[in-house]
Amino acid sequence: MWKPPEKIKYAPDPGTWPSAEQAAGSMLYSPVQVGPVTLAQRTWVPAMVPWRATNEGFVTDDVLDWYERFALGKPGAIVIEATGIRDIPSGPLMRIGDDRFLPGLKELADTVHRASEGQTKLLIQCIDFLAIRRRPDPAKFIERFLQVTDEIRAAIGAEDWPEEAVRDHLTGLPDEELDGVIDSRQLESLRMGYREFVYDTHLPHIRDLPQVLPDLFANAAVRAQEAGIDGVELHYAHAYTMASFLSRTNTRDDGYGGSREARVRLPLEVFAKVREAVGDDYPAGCRFLSDDCIDGGSDVDDAAFYAVEFARAGMDFLSLSRGGRFEDAKQPGVGQAAYPYTGRSGYECMPAYISDSFGPFGRNIEPASQIRQAVREAGFETPIVVTGGVHGFELAESILQKGQGDIVGAARQALADPDFFLKMQSGCGDQVRVCEYTNYCEGLDQKHKVVTCKLWDRIELDDGQAKLTDDGKRRKTAPAWTPPV
Ligand SMILES: Cc1cc2nc3c(=O)[nH]c(=O)nc-3n(C[C@H](O)[C@H](O)[C@H](O)COP(=O)(O)O)c2cc1C
Ligand code: SF4
Repeated sequence: MWKPPEKIKYAPDPGTWPSAEQAAGSMLYSPVQVGPVTLAQRTWVPAMVPWRATNEGFVTDDVLDWYERFALGKPGAIVIEATGIRDIPSGPLMRIGDDRFLPGLKELADTVHRASEGQTKLLIQCIDFLAIRRRPDPAKFIERFLQVTDEIRAAIGAEDWPEEAVRDHLTGLPDEELDGVIDSRQLESLRMGYREFVYDTHLPHIRDLPQVLPDLFANAAVRAQEAGIDGVELHYAHAYTMASFLSRTNTRDDGYGGSREARVRLPLEVFAKVREAVGDDYPAGCRFLSDDCIDGGSDVDDAAFYAVEFARAGMDFLSLSRGGRFEDAKQPGVGQAAYPYTGRSGYECMPAYISDSFGPFGRNIEPASQIRQAVREAGFETPIVVTGGVHGFELAESILQKGQGDIVGAARQALADPDFFLKMQSGCGDQVRVCEYTNYCEGLDQKHKVVTCKLWDRIELDDGQAKLTDDGKRRKTAPAWTPPV
């Protein structure tokens, strides 16, 4: 992963832990309204893909165990990992693009409600993404896939060469010379692997996204509702389709790109269709970026504009993330696919302990605060979920007290200790396993390996409850914790 050049090392500092009485009187443990439902507390476990679904996208026992473990910590809400809305093969990504996924999703909803004794609301993050291929072998790419254009011929003075001779010549050129010869899109495919962009409107299926996506998202939301999941989070963040519509890099010229108003059009049309399909009594909101954190991407002003539009449209919550874009991803090895969390924007999304002078904790608080203020000034009370580096009570409570957010998310801290919120609430904060933000978990995610936390995956392997990874080396969920009575 990319590291800030300053390379300052930070240790987590959770501050002082509250007593059970202090927690009871805090904002963090007070209820909050999310559209038609009430969260018992303002604590939220954001979406995290743990790579436990089948290759066909079905819920497995491991998926159930994973969410059950979070539910035992009784947060206000848990968001199920990014779940694909199309009925297409997507590897071991969870899917909701057909009714055959319903039984597994129903079991998942029941499991979370049972384990949390009805205290946790369960949402599901619905995602669409565009095609991305692995980085090709350069010689093979030039030989088979490169389009030999007139511009390429002109650049190397090969106007009347046979195509094969052009390809042979290009194969022999040093990498830096290819820069001036091959156009930027083909260079990107050569160096990073081919991927589709939302502005590739010459491709019919990309051109038609505005016609296709509203129904796909709406059908997924209806399935979530049928499965007994308590709400939907539309994935408008990171490197995926909807975030790419919102991004300033979206140059579509069909009314869905260019200006802010045009970029937000499809996300609003998708939401309108979702709302129409699920009705007003079902919580629906989105996760989007407070900042793309890339050159030429959307910034916090864009995000504030989007937030007001989403609130005006009637979203029940707005959850903010940042970065995580493909544009600045590290070059993958030949045969590997680019991963959107390897560049600076990836760092902003999941900042690790080696950081800059600001440090890895709370980098999204100020932007979220600005966005929330814009929403409030526009007259909307839509709750804002703030996530990023929260690992203690003091920071969580101060976000709420200062009006920087309405709900506090903790992803890696909840992974490090699924009982994080419950331990703080019951005056057992000193027993919290505090996340070290070394991103071991994120490294596993990158390789699509079963995600675990280094603080617990090698301990108590023989406690009689631990289910182990296939190599027998790691437990798949955190050891149990018994709250005081
Ligand atoms: C293993 C892992 C998987 C993640 N998967 C998702 C995901 O499916 N959807 C999403 O919006 N964010 C995902 N994230 C990002 C987190 O939700 C969160 O925004 C990020 O980790 C920063 O919050 P934190 O500092 O509390 O961890 C993932 C993070 C991790 C560590
Ligand atoms: S592996 Fe555990 S300690 Fe390390 S960053 Fe992930 S959750 Fe935190």
